[in-house]
Amino acid sequence: MIIAVDGPSAAGKGTLARGLAKALGFHFLDTGSLYRAVGLMMLRHGKSLDDADSAAHFAAALDLSAIADHELRNEQVAQAASRISAYPRVRGNLLAFQRDFARKPPGAVLDGRDIGTVVCPDANLKFFVTAATDVRARRRFEELRRQGIATTYDEVLADVLARDERDATRATAPTVMADDAIMIDTSELTADEVLKAVLDVVKDLKP
Ligand code: DC
Repeated sequence: MIIAVDGPSAAGKGTLARGLAKALGFHFLDTGSLYRAVGLMMLRHGKSLDDADSAAHFAAALDLSAIADHELRNEQVAQAASRISAYPRVRGNLLAFQRDFARKPPGAVLDGRDIGTVVCPDANLKFFVTAATDVRARRRFEELRRQGIATTYDEVLADVLARDERDATRATAPTVMADDAIMIDTSELTADEVLKAVLDVVKDLKP
């Protein structure tokens, strides 16, 4: 069974997808970490983010074991990920890994931008998780503050808007809701409420 969880940044899709995988005993893949890892390699090697050839090369040779998760969780890497994720060859080079992962028994939850539309169009269940822009920026701001990263709400809001605009308007696999996805607006919900609502839908589907 494959569950796709897509949506814009800081909408709560990672928290939901992780919780869902745990509750169901499924595998979990945060596909954003693949693009972040490629972005980090570009920064580490001093490559221009306009250099699509280098980005495609790093995507093809990606070794996630060489990268610690905390290195991926900052805004500079997020913006780099958003830039290189627009290159079709980067996306193509990451596709087989994601599709193989999705087929792992007994099931997998993948979160990203294009899981329900491109990576796993045949997923059993698709969710599109979103929230009001100011709510998403506020959540990301609080998260960065907890990590001790100095920033302002306005800076975070500008970053969130820039990234969403780029991810939603790129030519290849933009962030769009699949026709058969269920939309979840988390603006007024806690993480537990979101998980409960989604688990209710999953229970109806499972025999
Ligand atoms: O989900 P995230 O914030 O970790 O994603 C970082 C960037 O990676 C995001 O701005 C766009 C890109 N991305 C993508 O293009 N497709 C995905 N399936 C996941 C992420």
